[in-house]
Amino acid sequence: MADLQIKQKYHIAVLLVVITSTFSGNPGIELKTAPAPDSSAPPPVIHVIVGGRAQLPCNITPPTIEDSVSLILWYRSDINAPLFTVDCRSGSLDKAKHFSSDFLGQRAHFDLRTRPALLTIEPVKAEDLGEYRCRVDYRWARTLNNNAILYVVVPPRDVVILDEKLQPLHRVIGPYNEDSEIRLKCLARGGRPSPFVSWWREMQLLDREHEKEDGDEVMNELVIRRLVRNDLNAELLCQVWNSNLTSSIVAAVFLDLNLKPLDVRILTTEAHYKAGWKYAFECRTRGSRPEPRISWWKDYILLGHHLTNVSHQPNISISTLVIAPSSDDHGRNLTCRVANPKLSFSSLEDSVTLNVYYKPQVRVSLQGGRTSQAVYENDDAFLKCSGKGNPSITAVFWYFQGQKLKNNPEDGIIISNQSLWLQNVRREQSGFYRCSAVNSEGQGESEDLKLNIKYKPICKHQHPKFYTAMIGETVRIQCDVEAEPDDVIFFWRFNNTKQVREILTRARFRLRSIVEFAPRDHSDFGTITCRGKNAVGIQKDACKYVLISVGPPEKVTNCTWLHDTSDFVHVECKPGHDGGLRQQFQLEVYNAEWKHLQINLTSHKKPVFQIPGVAPGASLVLVIYAINAKGRSPIVEMNIQTSLFAERHFEFFIINAQYCITNRKLLIFTLIQKGTIPQEKLDNIWDLKLFILLEKGTIPQEKLDNIWDLKLGL
Ligand SMILES: *[C@@H]1O[C@H](CO)[C@@H](O)[C@H](O)[C@H]1NC(C)=O
Ligand SMILES: *[C@@H]1O[C@H](CO)[C@@H](O)[C@H](O)[C@H]1NC(C)=O
Ligand SMILES: *[C@@H]1O[C@H](CO)[C@@H](O)[C@H](O)[C@H]1NC(C)=O
Ligand SMILES: *[C@@H]1O[C@H](CO)[C@@H](O)[C@H](O)[C@H]1NC(C)=O
Ligand SMILES: *[C@@H]1O[C@H](CO)[C@@H](O)[C@H](O)[C@H]1NC(C)=O
Ligand SMILES: *[C@@H]1O[C@H](CO)[C@@H](O)[C@H](O)[C@H]1NC(C)=O
Ligand SMILES: *[C@@H]1O[C@H](CO)[C@@H](O)[C@H](O)[C@H]1NC(C)=O
Repeated sequence: MADLQIKQKYHIAVLLVVITSTFSGNPGIELKTAPAPDSSAPPPVIHVIVGGRAQLPCNITPPTIEDSVSLILWYRSDINAPLFTVDCRSGSLDKAKHFSSDFLGQRAHFDLRTRPALLTIEPVKAEDLGEYRCRVDYRWARTLNNNAILYVVVPPRDVVILDEKLQPLHRVIGPYNEDSEIRLKCLARGGRPSPFVSWWREMQLLDREHEKEDGDEVMNELVIRRLVRNDLNAELLCQVWNSNLTSSIVAAVFLDLNLKPLDVRILTTEAHYKAGWKYAFECRTRGSRPEPRISWWKDYILLGHHLTNVSHQPNISISTLVIAPSSDDHGRNLTCRVANPKLSFSSLEDSVTLNVYYKPQVRVSLQGGRTSQAVYENDDAFLKCSGKGNPSITAVFWYFQGQKLKNNPEDGIIISNQSLWLQNVRREQSGFYRCSAVNSEGQGESEDLKLNIKYKPICKHQHPKFYTAMIGETVRIQCDVEAEPDDVIFFWRFNNTKQVREILTRARFRLRSIVEFAPRDHSDFGTITCRGKNAVGIQKDACKYVLISVGPPEKVTNCTWLHDTSDFVHVECKPGHDGGLRQQFQLEVYNAEWKHLQINLTSHKKPVFQIPGVAPGASLVLVIYAINAKGRSPIVEMNIQTSLFAERHFEFFIINAQYCITNRKLLIFTLIQKGTIPQEKLDNIWDLKLFILLEKGTIPQEKLDNIWDLKLGL
């Protein structure tokens, strides 16, 4: 490019020389014909930097020895007047006068002693550029011209790096985002020849083709399509140079970049975590610039910064998270996410799936049953201990009312896997059930499950209850049942030998019903029954109430008497119904022979009497009856004959034979063991001389029958 310019200028210069050599000249100086310079040899080009020294050669040697220089004129092709003159027309060359034009002034000096003679211009100015001609006139010979081209090199004025908006950039530029494109313009101003503008990165040439040349400005745009991590801190240098006479001038910038994180990793060594224990998780990331933002997530939940501690070192950042995982965290992902705050889509993450060990968490649920929460008596109940634990549950235990249950298929209690199967449940199995499950972390207990076994109403009392009333009197009969659920409706019924009829009542209080009943005549006494009904069903055995009209007591029953050794006769009966009133008991003792009342005894509580002073062998008639305010019961009559021997019961433990003397007769017993002799036999003992009781217990019949034949002497 520069060469081309110079060549063009040379052609122009040649043209100018032709014109000037024809028409110009120093005023007052005679011009000789000036032949064109020898076109076969182009004039020398002298390169001089502005401010430097230019030496333009001129051959002044005369063609013949006799000849001598008369006048030397220096011209520049674009200026008419000579620039420098040496006039020796009136003397010798040594004495000749040197004239410098205003244009060159003091800067020019012409040295005639050298061969060729040299016109020195110092310091050279930019405008000194041009084609110079030295015209030498000889005294005899023809005028000769020497041409030389002075090329003044001007260094570029300055260089500046601009961004796309043409704002100047200095030193560190950016930060630019990784992967983005940048365009930097390098603008050089001034300089002759036009400078080369090139981009360099360290020693590597990036771009040497400038895009634009405009006046004295040359612009080279550097495009980096995609910035990479390696470009961080790179020095981009713009070099401007236009001649090897000058050194280049440069401008440089350093790249600053925003860099994406390179990697992220959660460092953890645990294979599992114990619930409730504190663990520190470390997340390391490298490569982000500026420092990355690090966040921790549990599945999709952002964890608070108060749990973390971050440290940034150059190029590496570590965030430490301290948490105590809970059982709920099992299977969740713990994620560390890093992102460069300056770069969107720069985030990276690493996850660990939490394997949390925890004690079993169980609950009891009722699976069987007629409806979801109802088990009827005689149903099967199926309880399930469900829940979770990590590691998995190894054993399950069941508790009823706090007591551990054992597998007992015979009683219908079957424990298998995680279930409790109660077969054919009974009411008593209502209550609180609980399970507990075991794994390596420990034991977890469920809440209590209340198992309500539903059953039909049953009567609270087993035996019939008696009520007494007089005709027209109102009786309040209360029926109490047990039932589950306790929402019971009642059916009352009256029943005697003649009729059966329903009794209606409104008085109902969950497990209790009351009827008020007033017998109108004797047919209104009898049995009243009450049955309850709930969701499970109707009561099987009705509650019974016997309504009795008030009247004289019933007769006593089952009377027995006993005559003991002390002349007392003990009489004991069972009382009959008291007729609804308080009864007392009467015993009248008559002499059998004379029908004469001997004793009249009263007993208030029970029909038990002691008749004193009864002689052995007496024959008596006993008349026993009960009395209440309504009257007397029928009598019970007993004829008794007291034994001559008072003894009835023989209870001996004596083993040896011995003589016994009773109050009347001598008797010999051999009693081997305890025994009782019945009354009738004793009555016949009068005819006995001896008898032997040989065996334990009551004397067997045969022995007694044979006693008559015994003759055992002692
Ligand atoms: C300087 O430049 C000139 C002209 O372009 C050339 O002739 C010369 O060889 C160069 N010198 C050096 C040392 O490069
Ligand atoms: C930053 O880390 C990357 C990846 O290991 C490495 O290539 C680079 O040299 C590191 N830079 C510094 C300044 O340590
Ligand atoms: C948890 O991480 C695993 C493996 O990294 C992945 O397959 C799973 O989808 C993640 N779950 C959630 C909820 O992110
Ligand atoms: C116990 O569990 C095993 C395996 O899950 C199953 O095959 C078996 O039927 C279960 N037994 C009962 C009584 O549920
Ligand atoms: C009425 O009472 C009689 C005798 O106690 C009994 O046999 C009968 O079954 C009862 N009838 C009803 C309907 O309760
Ligand atoms: C009365 O005696 C009879 C027959 O010996 C017996 O069946 C009944 O149970 C006795 N009654 C009482 C109340 O003891
Ligand atoms: C015996 O005593 C009772 C009560 O005091 C009396 O009612 C009864 O008449 C008496 N019996 C005789 C035979 O007097």
